[in-house]
Amino acid sequence: MSVSPIHTVDKNGDEITTVGFNRFGFDCEVSLDVLRSLYLRPHYAVLNEHSDDADAEPLAQHAKFSQSLTAYQSKSIFHPETNSISYTTLTRFTPVKLLPPSQRKRVLITGGAGFVGSHLVDRLMLLGHEVTVLDNFFTGSKTTVNHWIGHPNFEMVRHDVVEPFMIECDQIYHLACPASPPHYQFNAVKTIKTSFMGTLNMLGLAKRTKARFLITSTSEVYGDPEVHPQHEEYWGHVNPIGPRACYDEGKRVAETLTYGFQRQDGVEVRVARIFNTYGPRSKVQYISEVNPYDGRVVSNFIVQALKGEDMTVYGDGKQTRSFQYIHDLIDGLIALMNSDESRPVNIGNGDEFTIGEFAELVRDIVEKVQDEDGVKRDHRVNIVYKPMPTDDPQMRRPDTTRAKESLQWQPRWTVRMGLEEMVRYYKAKMAEGNL
Ligand SMILES: NC(=O)c1ccc[n+]([C@@H]2O[C@H](COP(=O)([O-])OP(=O)(O)OC[C@H]3O[C@@H](n4cnc5c(N)ncnc54)[C@H](O)[C@@H]3O)[C@@H](O)[C@H]2O)c1
Repeated sequence: MSVSPIHTVDKNGDEITTVGFNRFGFDCEVSLDVLRSLYLRPHYAVLNEHSDDADAEPLAQHAKFSQSLTAYQSKSIFHPETNSISYTTLTRFTPVKLLPPSQRKRVLITGGAGFVGSHLVDRLMLLGHEVTVLDNFFTGSKTTVNHWIGHPNFEMVRHDVVEPFMIECDQIYHLACPASPPHYQFNAVKTIKTSFMGTLNMLGLAKRTKARFLITSTSEVYGDPEVHPQHEEYWGHVNPIGPRACYDEGKRVAETLTYGFQRQDGVEVRVARIFNTYGPRSKVQYISEVNPYDGRVVSNFIVQALKGEDMTVYGDGKQTRSFQYIHDLIDGLIALMNSDESRPVNIGNGDEFTIGEFAELVRDIVEKVQDEDGVKRDHRVNIVYKPMPTDDPQMRRPDTTRAKESLQWQPRWTVRMGLEEMVRYYKAKMAEGNL
Protein backbone atom coordinates (compact mmCIF):
# COMPACT_ATOMS: atom_id res chain seq x y z
CA MET A 1 0.00 0.00 0.00
CA SER A 2 1.53 3.32 -1.00
CA VAL A 3 1.40 6.17 1.47
CA SER A 4 1.86 9.89 1.18
CA PRO A 5 3.40 11.95 3.98
CA ILE A 6 1.12 14.14 6.11
CA HIS A 7 1.80 17.86 5.92
CA THR A 8 1.33 19.93 9.04
CA VAL A 9 1.34 23.69 8.73
CA ASP A 10 1.51 26.39 11.38
CA LYS A 11 -0.57 29.55 11.81
CA ASN A 12 1.36 31.29 9.00
CA GLY A 13 0.92 28.39 6.61
CA ASP A 14 4.58 27.31 6.96
CA GLU A 15 5.20 23.59 7.19
CA ILE A 16 6.03 22.26 10.67
CA THR A 17 8.82 19.71 10.45
CA THR A 18 10.32 20.20 13.91
CA VAL A 19 9.16 21.24 17.36
CA GLY A 20 11.21 23.14 19.93
CA PHE A 21 14.03 25.63 19.50
CA ASN A 22 17.52 26.50 20.66
CA ARG A 23 17.08 29.16 23.31
CA PHE A 24 18.75 30.15 26.59
CA GLY A 25 21.64 27.82 25.76
CA PHE A 26 19.35 24.79 25.68
CA ASP A 27 18.56 23.09 22.39
CA CYS A 28 15.15 21.43 22.52
CA GLU A 29 14.48 21.02 18.80
CA VAL A 30 13.47 17.57 17.54
CA SER A 31 12.03 16.22 14.31
CA LEU A 32 8.22 16.04 14.30
CA ASP A 33 8.27 12.71 12.43
CA VAL A 34 10.46 11.14 15.09
CA LEU A 35 8.33 12.50 17.92
CA ARG A 36 5.15 11.31 16.23
CA SER A 37 6.54 7.84 15.81
CA LEU A 38 6.38 7.61 19.62
CA TYR A 39 2.66 8.29 19.99
CA LEU A 40 1.09 7.70 16.60
CA ARG A 41 1.97 4.05 16.61
CA PRO A 42 -0.17 1.25 15.29
CA HIS A 43 0.31 0.18 18.91
CA TYR A 44 -2.18 -2.64 18.93
CA ALA A 45 -2.19 -4.62 15.71
CA VAL A 46 -5.08 -7.02 15.36
CA LEU A 47 -3.62 -10.34 14.32
CA ASN A 48 -5.36 -12.25 11.61
CA GLU A 49 -4.02 -15.80 11.68
CA HIS A 50 -5.01 -16.39 8.06
CA SER A 51 -3.06 -13.55 6.63
CA ASP A 52 0.71 -13.20 6.52
CA ASP A 53 0.68 -9.45 6.41
CA ALA A 54 -2.11 -8.61 8.84
CA ASP A 55 -0.09 -5.69 10.16
CA ALA A 56 0.42 -4.20 6.73
CA GLU A 57 -2.57 -1.87 6.83
CA PRO A 58 -1.95 -0.19 10.21
CA LEU A 59 1.78 -0.12 9.55
CA ALA A 60 1.27 1.51 6.18
CA GLN A 61 -1.06 4.10 7.68
CA HIS A 62 1.41 4.70 10.42
CA ALA A 63 4.22 5.21 7.92
CA LYS A 64 2.53 8.44 6.90
CA PHE A 65 3.79 9.88 10.15
CA SER A 66 6.77 7.85 11.16
CA GLN A 67 8.67 7.76 7.88
CA SER A 68 9.90 4.18 8.29
CA LEU A 69 10.81 4.50 11.97
CA THR A 70 8.71 1.42 12.74
CA ALA A 71 11.89 -0.62 13.19
CA TYR A 72 12.29 1.09 16.55
CA GLN A 73 8.86 0.21 17.90
CA SER A 74 7.54 -2.41 20.25
CA LYS A 75 4.22 -4.01 19.41
CA SER A 76 1.24 -5.30 21.30
CA ILE A 77 -0.56 -7.95 19.30
CA PHE A 78 -4.19 -8.61 20.08
CA HIS A 79 -5.58 -12.10 19.39
CA PRO A 80 -9.36 -11.65 19.14
CA GLU A 81 -10.16 -15.35 19.06
CA THR A 82 -8.61 -15.94 22.51
CA ASN A 83 -9.04 -12.38 23.79
CA SER A 84 -5.37 -12.29 24.73
CA ILE A 85 -2.48 -9.99 24.04
CA SER A 86 1.20 -10.62 23.39
CA TYR A 87 3.87 -7.98 23.85
CA THR A 88 7.10 -7.75 21.89
CA THR A 89 10.16 -6.21 23.50
CA LEU A 90 12.04 -3.49 21.77
CA THR A 91 15.41 -4.52 20.54
CA ARG A 92 16.38 -1.06 19.32
CA PHE A 93 15.23 2.25 20.74
CA THR A 94 14.49 5.34 18.70
CA PRO A 95 17.86 7.11 18.34
CA VAL A 96 18.51 9.87 20.87
CA LYS A 97 20.99 12.70 20.61
CA LEU A 98 24.49 11.96 21.86
CA LEU A 99 25.27 14.83 24.22
CA PRO A 100 28.63 15.49 25.81
CA PRO A 101 28.43 14.88 29.61
CA SER A 102 28.77 18.63 30.25
CA GLN A 103 25.49 19.26 28.41
CA ARG A 104 23.59 16.18 29.53
CA LYS A 105 21.14 17.03 32.30
CA ARG A 106 19.84 14.61 34.92
CA VAL A 107 16.15 15.44 34.85
CA LEU A 108 13.54 14.27 37.35
CA ILE A 109 9.92 14.40 36.13
CA THR A 110 7.26 13.76 38.75
CA GLY A 111 3.96 12.72 37.17
CA GLY A 112 5.97 11.74 34.08
CA ALA A 113 3.57 8.90 33.19
CA GLY A 114 0.64 11.31 32.75
CA PHE A 115 -0.56 13.19 29.69
CA VAL A 116 1.77 16.21 29.84
CA GLY A 117 4.60 14.36 31.58
CA SER A 118 4.89 11.65 28.93
CA HIS A 119 5.34 14.22 26.16
CA LEU A 120 8.00 15.98 28.22
CA VAL A 121 9.73 12.61 28.70
CA ASP A 122 9.70 11.96 24.93
CA ARG A 123 11.20 15.34 24.16
CA LEU A 124 13.94 15.25 26.81
CA MET A 125 14.84 11.65 25.95
CA LEU A 126 15.18 12.43 22.23
CA LEU A 127 17.37 15.39 23.18
CA GLY A 128 19.80 13.02 24.90
CA HIS A 129 19.18 13.83 28.58
CA GLU A 130 18.91 11.37 31.48
CA VAL A 131 15.31 11.17 32.60
CA THR A 132 13.85 9.70 35.78
CA VAL A 133 10.07 9.44 36.08
CA LEU A 134 8.46 9.37 39.51
CA ASP A 135 4.80 8.39 39.41
CA ASN A 136 2.26 6.51 41.52
CA PHE A 137 0.13 5.76 38.41
CA PHE A 138 -3.01 7.23 39.95
CA THR A 139 -4.04 8.83 36.66
CA GLY A 140 -0.94 8.01 34.62
CA SER A 141 0.05 4.73 33.05
CA LYS A 142 3.27 2.92 32.25
CA THR A 143 2.04 2.47 28.70
CA THR A 144 2.60 6.18 27.96
CA VAL A 145 6.36 5.80 28.34
CA ASN A 146 6.93 2.06 27.87
CA HIS A 147 8.82 2.75 24.64
CA TRP A 148 11.69 4.03 26.82
CA ILE A 149 11.72 1.29 29.45
CA GLY A 150 15.13 -0.40 29.37
CA HIS A 151 16.87 2.57 27.73
CA PRO A 152 20.11 3.42 29.55
CA ASN A 153 19.10 7.10 29.86
CA PHE A 154 15.67 6.28 31.33
CA GLU A 155 14.46 5.21 34.74
CA MET A 156 10.94 4.76 36.01
CA VAL A 157 10.12 4.67 39.72
CA ARG A 158 6.73 3.89 41.25
CA HIS A 159 6.59 6.37 44.09
CA ASP A 160 4.08 8.64 45.75
CA VAL A 161 5.40 12.18 46.05
CA VAL A 162 3.77 12.69 49.44
CA GLU A 163 6.69 10.56 50.68
CA PRO A 164 10.25 11.96 50.48
CA PHE A 165 12.49 10.76 47.65
CA MET A 166 16.26 11.06 47.27
CA ILE A 167 18.09 11.26 43.95
CA GLU A 168 20.86 13.36 42.42
CA CYS A 169 19.53 15.61 39.66
CA ASP A 170 20.02 18.94 37.88
CA GLN A 171 16.43 19.83 37.01
CA ILE A 172 13.08 18.87 38.55
CA TYR A 173 9.84 19.19 36.61
CA HIS A 174 7.20 18.74 39.29
CA LEU A 175 3.96 17.72 37.56
CA ALA A 176 2.57 15.04 39.90
CA CYS A 177 -1.06 15.92 40.64
CA PRO A 178 -4.34 14.71 39.16
CA ALA A 179 -5.49 17.40 36.74
CA SER A 180 -9.08 16.76 35.71
CA PRO A 181 -12.07 17.48 37.99
CA PRO A 182 -13.34 13.88 38.35
CA HIS A 183 -9.84 12.72 39.24
CA TYR A 184 -8.90 15.47 41.68
CA GLN A 185 -12.32 15.38 43.34
CA PHE A 186 -12.20 11.58 43.70
CA ASN A 187 -10.14 11.99 46.89
CA ALA A 188 -9.97 15.69 47.71
CA VAL A 189 -7.83 15.24 50.82
CA LYS A 190 -5.27 13.24 48.85
CA THR A 191 -5.22 15.93 46.15
CA ILE A 192 -4.35 18.60 48.75
CA LYS A 193 -1.75 16.31 50.32
CA THR A 194 -0.20 15.73 46.89
CA SER A 195 -0.09 19.46 46.18
CA PHE A 196 1.30 20.44 49.56
CA MET A 197 3.44 17.54 50.77
CA GLY A 198 4.49 16.47 47.29
CA THR A 199 5.68 19.98 46.48
CA LEU A 200 7.35 20.30 49.90
CA ASN A 201 9.27 17.06 49.32
CA MET A 202 10.36 18.01 45.82
CA LEU A 203 11.42 21.50 46.92
CA GLY A 204 13.42 19.91 49.74
CA LEU A 205 15.12 17.73 47.15
CA ALA A 206 15.83 20.78 44.97
CA LYS A 207 17.35 22.57 47.98
CA ARG A 208 19.62 19.61 48.82
CA THR A 209 20.76 18.90 45.25
CA LYS A 210 20.73 22.56 44.08
CA ALA A 211 18.55 21.43 41.19
CA ARG A 212 16.38 23.95 39.39
CA PHE A 213 12.71 23.37 40.22
CA LEU A 214 9.74 23.95 37.90
CA ILE A 215 6.16 23.45 39.06
CA THR A 216 3.21 23.06 36.71
CA SER A 217 0.63 25.33 38.27
CA THR A 218 -2.65 26.11 36.58
CA SER A 219 -4.99 28.80 35.33
CA GLU A 220 -7.31 27.55 38.12
CA VAL A 221 -5.29 29.68 40.57
CA TYR A 222 -7.24 32.61 39.05
CA GLY A 223 -10.49 30.90 40.11
CA ASP A 224 -13.59 32.57 38.75
CA PRO A 225 -11.74 35.66 37.49
CA GLU A 226 -12.96 39.22 37.44
CA VAL A 227 -10.15 40.20 35.05
CA HIS A 228 -10.11 39.16 31.37
CA PRO A 229 -7.82 37.97 29.97
CA GLN A 230 -5.85 36.88 33.05
CA HIS A 231 -2.32 38.25 33.50
CA GLU A 232 0.13 36.95 36.07
CA GLU A 233 -0.23 39.93 38.41
CA TYR A 234 -3.89 39.10 39.02
CA TRP A 235 -4.32 37.46 42.45
CA GLY A 236 -7.39 35.45 41.56
CA HIS A 237 -10.88 34.89 42.90
CA VAL A 238 -11.06 31.39 44.37
CA ASN A 239 -13.74 29.80 46.54
CA PRO A 240 -11.66 28.17 49.33
CA ILE A 241 -14.34 25.65 50.32
CA GLY A 242 -15.96 24.63 47.03
CA PRO A 243 -15.55 21.20 45.37
CA ARG A 244 -12.74 22.49 43.14
CA ALA A 245 -10.82 24.05 46.06
CA CYS A 246 -8.70 20.93 46.71
CA TYR A 247 -7.06 21.54 43.33
CA ASP A 248 -7.21 25.36 43.07
CA GLU A 249 -6.07 26.06 46.62
CA GLY A 250 -3.66 23.12 46.47
CA LYS A 251 -1.88 24.74 43.53
CA ARG A 252 -1.98 28.16 45.20
CA VAL A 253 -0.30 26.86 48.35
CA ALA A 254 2.17 24.94 46.17
CA GLU A 255 3.13 28.25 44.54
CA THR A 256 3.44 29.85 48.01
CA LEU A 257 5.78 27.05 49.12
CA THR A 258 7.79 27.41 45.92
CA TYR A 259 8.44 31.11 46.50
CA GLY A 260 9.09 30.40 50.21
CA PHE A 261 11.98 28.10 49.25
CA GLN A 262 13.22 30.69 46.78
CA ARG A 263 13.28 33.51 49.37
CA GLN A 264 14.49 31.48 52.34
CA ASP A 265 16.81 28.94 50.77
CA GLY A 266 17.76 30.41 47.41
CA VAL A 267 16.23 27.53 45.43
CA GLU A 268 16.03 28.38 41.72
CA VAL A 269 12.32 28.16 40.93
CA ARG A 270 10.10 28.38 37.84
CA VAL A 271 6.30 28.54 37.92
CA ALA A 272 4.24 27.69 34.82
CA ARG A 273 0.54 28.52 34.97
CA ILE A 274 -0.88 26.18 32.36
CA PHE A 275 -4.16 26.81 30.57
CA ASN A 276 -6.31 24.09 28.94
CA THR A 277 -4.21 21.73 26.89
CA TYR A 278 -5.16 18.89 24.55
CA GLY A 279 -3.27 16.25 22.63
CA PRO A 280 -2.65 12.54 22.22
CA ARG A 281 -2.61 10.56 25.49
CA SER A 282 -5.06 12.89 27.24
CA LYS A 283 -7.64 10.77 28.97
CA VAL A 284 -11.12 10.16 27.72
CA GLN A 285 -13.99 10.40 30.18
CA TYR A 286 -17.66 9.89 29.79
CA ILE A 287 -19.02 13.17 28.55
CA SER A 288 -21.41 13.54 31.47
CA GLU A 289 -18.44 13.76 33.83
CA VAL A 290 -16.61 16.30 31.79
CA ASN A 291 -16.93 19.95 32.33
CA PRO A 292 -17.50 21.45 28.90
CA TYR A 293 -14.63 23.85 29.59
CA ASP A 294 -12.17 21.11 30.38
CA GLY A 295 -9.54 20.44 27.67
CA ARG A 296 -10.66 16.82 27.78
CA VAL A 297 -13.84 17.82 26.02
CA VAL A 298 -11.74 17.63 22.86
CA SER A 299 -10.89 13.95 23.28
CA ASN A 300 -14.51 13.19 24.11
CA PHE A 301 -15.79 14.84 20.93
CA ILE A 302 -13.27 12.89 18.88
CA VAL A 303 -14.14 9.54 20.40
CA GLN A 304 -17.88 10.14 20.03
CA ALA A 305 -17.43 11.08 16.38
CA LEU A 306 -15.15 8.11 15.66
CA LYS A 307 -17.66 5.76 17.24
CA GLY A 308 -20.49 7.30 15.20
CA GLU A 309 -22.27 8.47 18.38
CA ASP A 310 -24.00 11.81 18.89
CA MET A 311 -21.59 14.56 19.98
CA THR A 312 -22.84 16.29 23.11
CA VAL A 313 -22.50 20.04 23.52
CA TYR A 314 -23.59 21.55 26.85
CA GLY A 315 -25.37 24.89 26.61
CA ASP A 316 -26.12 26.61 23.32
CA GLY A 317 -22.58 26.01 22.02
CA LYS A 318 -21.88 29.75 21.74
CA GLN A 319 -19.65 29.86 24.82
CA THR A 320 -16.00 30.26 23.84
CA ARG A 321 -12.91 28.45 25.00
CA SER A 322 -9.25 28.34 24.04
CA PHE A 323 -7.13 25.20 23.94
CA GLN A 324 -3.40 24.84 23.38
CA TYR A 325 -1.75 21.91 21.71
CA ILE A 326 0.59 19.73 23.74
CA HIS A 327 3.74 20.45 21.70
CA ASP A 328 3.35 24.19 22.28
CA LEU A 329 3.06 23.56 26.03
CA ILE A 330 6.19 21.38 26.09
CA ASP A 331 8.10 24.09 24.17
CA GLY A 332 6.94 26.62 26.79
CA LEU A 333 7.87 24.45 29.79
CA ILE A 334 11.36 23.73 28.48
CA ALA A 335 11.92 27.39 27.56
CA LEU A 336 10.79 28.48 31.04
CA MET A 337 12.97 25.92 32.83
CA ASN A 338 16.07 27.09 31.00
CA SER A 339 15.33 30.84 31.04
CA ASP A 340 16.09 33.35 33.80
CA GLU A 341 12.39 34.06 34.39
CA SER A 342 11.48 33.17 37.99
CA ARG A 343 8.10 34.93 38.10
CA PRO A 344 4.96 32.91 37.28
CA VAL A 345 4.36 32.61 33.52
CA ASN A 346 1.05 31.86 31.79
CA ILE A 347 1.37 29.20 29.09
CA GLY A 348 -1.72 28.87 26.96
CA ASN A 349 -3.31 29.65 23.62
CA GLY A 350 -5.52 32.73 23.46
CA ASP A 351 -7.32 31.78 20.22
CA GLU A 352 -10.98 31.46 21.10
CA PHE A 353 -13.47 29.08 19.51
CA THR A 354 -17.07 28.47 20.37
CA ILE A 355 -17.73 24.96 21.67
CA GLY A 356 -20.22 24.54 18.80
CA GLU A 357 -17.51 25.43 16.25
CA PHE A 358 -15.20 22.96 17.95
CA ALA A 359 -17.70 20.16 17.66
CA GLU A 360 -18.22 20.87 13.95
CA LEU A 361 -14.49 21.05 13.32
CA VAL A 362 -13.93 17.73 15.08
CA ARG A 363 -16.68 16.11 13.01
CA ASP A 364 -15.18 17.46 9.74
CA ILE A 365 -11.70 16.25 10.63
CA VAL A 366 -12.89 12.81 11.70
CA GLU A 367 -14.69 12.49 8.36
CA LYS A 368 -11.60 13.66 6.46
CA VAL A 369 -9.40 11.06 8.18
CA GLN A 370 -12.00 8.33 7.64
CA ASP A 371 -12.22 9.24 3.94
CA GLU A 372 -8.42 9.19 3.59
CA ASP A 373 -8.29 5.75 5.21
CA GLY A 374 -11.20 4.41 3.15
CA VAL A 375 -13.50 3.95 6.17
CA LYS A 376 -17.18 3.91 5.18
CA ARG A 377 -19.74 5.72 7.37
CA ASP A 378 -23.35 4.65 7.48
CA HIS A 379 -24.49 8.08 8.76
CA ARG A 380 -23.22 11.54 9.66
CA VAL A 381 -22.99 11.97 13.44
CA ASN A 382 -25.32 14.51 15.01
CA ILE A 383 -24.31 17.34 17.32
CA VAL A 384 -26.81 17.45 20.18
CA TYR A 385 -27.24 20.25 22.71
CA LYS A 386 -27.96 19.63 26.41
CA PRO A 387 -28.52 22.04 29.33
CA MET A 388 -25.41 23.60 30.82
CA PRO A 389 -24.38 22.26 34.25
CA THR A 390 -24.95 24.89 36.95
CA ASP A 391 -21.47 24.96 38.55
CA ASP A 392 -19.60 26.02 35.43
CA PRO A 393 -16.60 28.26 35.88
CA GLN A 394 -16.56 31.51 33.97
CA MET A 395 -14.49 31.95 30.86
CA ARG A 396 -10.72 31.88 31.11
CA ARG A 397 -8.28 33.23 28.56
CA PRO A 398 -4.54 33.70 29.05
CA ASP A 399 -2.66 36.92 28.70
CA THR A 400 0.62 35.50 27.40
CA THR A 401 2.53 38.78 27.06
CA ARG A 402 5.07 37.69 29.68
CA ALA A 403 5.78 34.38 27.94
CA LYS A 404 6.24 36.27 24.69
CA GLU A 405 8.59 38.85 26.17
CA SER A 406 10.59 36.67 28.56
CA LEU A 407 10.65 33.36 26.71
CA GLN A 408 10.01 34.52 23.13
CA TRP A 409 7.36 31.83 23.21
CA GLN A 410 4.12 31.84 21.27
CA PRO A 411 1.81 28.97 20.28
CA ARG A 412 2.50 27.64 16.77
CA TRP A 413 -0.07 24.90 16.36
CA THR A 414 -3.44 25.62 14.83
CA VAL A 415 -6.42 23.88 16.32
CA ARG A 416 -7.05 22.04 13.05
CA MET A 417 -3.53 20.58 12.92
CA GLY A 418 -3.66 19.49 16.53
CA LEU A 419 -7.06 17.90 16.08
CA GLU A 420 -5.97 15.95 13.05
CA GLU A 421 -3.14 14.34 15.00
CA MET A 422 -5.48 13.54 17.84
CA VAL A 423 -8.02 11.90 15.55
CA ARG A 424 -5.23 9.70 14.16
CA TYR A 425 -4.15 8.81 17.68
CA TYR A 426 -7.62 7.85 18.92
CA LYS A 427 -8.37 5.96 15.74
CA ALA A 428 -5.31 3.80 16.41
CA LYS A 429 -6.29 3.49 20.08
CA MET A 430 -9.75 2.29 19.16
CA ALA A 431 -8.17 -0.79 17.64
CA GLU A 432 -7.28 -1.73 21.21
CA GLY A 433 -10.99 -2.10 21.83
CA ASN A 434 -11.01 -0.27 25.15
CA LEU A 435 -12.20 3.17 24.12
N1 LIG B 1 -3.66 19.14 31.09
C1 LIG B 1 -4.00 20.39 31.34
O1 LIG B 1 -4.78 21.00 30.58
C2 LIG B 1 -3.40 21.11 32.54
C3 LIG B 1 -3.82 22.42 32.81
C4 LIG B 1 -3.28 23.08 33.91
C5 LIG B 1 -2.33 22.48 34.71
N2 LIG B 1 -1.94 21.21 34.45
C6 LIG B 1 -0.96 20.59 35.37
O2 LIG B 1 -0.02 19.81 34.65
C7 LIG B 1 0.33 18.65 35.41
C8 LIG B 1 0.11 17.40 34.58
O3 LIG B 1 -1.25 17.33 34.18
P1 LIG B 1 -1.80 16.19 33.19
O4 LIG B 1 -2.85 16.79 32.35
O5 LIG B 1 -0.65 15.51 32.55
O6 LIG B 1 -2.51 15.23 34.25
P2 LIG B 1 -2.44 13.65 34.39
O7 LIG B 1 -3.46 13.28 35.39
O8 LIG B 1 -2.48 13.00 33.05
O9 LIG B 1 -0.98 13.43 35.00
C9 LIG B 1 -0.66 13.57 36.36
C10 LIG B 1 0.36 12.50 36.73
O10 LIG B 1 0.70 12.64 38.11
C11 LIG B 1 0.65 11.35 38.73
N3 LIG B 1 0.35 11.53 40.15
C12 LIG B 1 -0.78 12.02 40.72
N4 LIG B 1 -0.67 12.04 42.06
C13 LIG B 1 0.58 11.57 42.35
C14 LIG B 1 1.30 11.34 43.55
N5 LIG B 1 0.75 11.60 44.74
N6 LIG B 1 2.55 10.82 43.47
C15 LIG B 1 3.12 10.53 42.28
N7 LIG B 1 2.49 10.73 41.10
C16 LIG B 1 1.23 11.25 41.14
C17 LIG B 1 -0.44 10.62 37.99
O11 LIG B 1 -0.39 9.22 38.12
C18 LIG B 1 -0.19 11.08 36.56
O12 LIG B 1 0.76 10.27 35.90
C19 LIG B 1 -0.50 18.69 36.69
O13 LIG B 1 0.28 19.25 37.73
C20 LIG B 1 -1.63 19.64 36.34
O14 LIG B 1 -2.12 20.29 37.48
C21 LIG B 1 -2.45 20.51 33.39
